[in-house]
Amino acid sequence: MYTIDFSFEQKNIPSITIPNCPVDDSILEIALKNNIHIHHNCGGVNACSTCHIYLESGEDFVEEISDKEENFIDRARNPRINSRLSCQCVLLEGTGRIQVIVPDQSVIHGE
Ligand code: FES
Repeated sequence: MYTIDFSFEQKNIPSITIPNCPVDDSILEIALKNNIHIHHNCGGVNACSTCHIYLESGEDFVEEISDKEENFIDRARNPRINSRLSCQCVLLEGTGRIQVIVPDQSVIHGE
């Protein structure tokens, strides 16, 4: 089980901490289950860049980035060294704390 701290580029959205996040869920799935809005145009199959997040800490707790994911991140808005696609950040066996920043969703065209 993990605890995930979500904070948001959009200043009007308060940070939220989600405890007891289960192994094998992706960060996108956890966000959506908890009414945290992250676009996900391709439905979570590593075929768009709309679910882009910044993984501030806890990268060892999620599946490693693939070449395909890196290619899509290159197309995301303002990619950084810690950019990931949230649908590809599946929680590995273990426990810990993960910190995520959700980019401004208002400037992304998507679902
Ligand atoms: S939802 Fe499309 S790559 Fe994550």
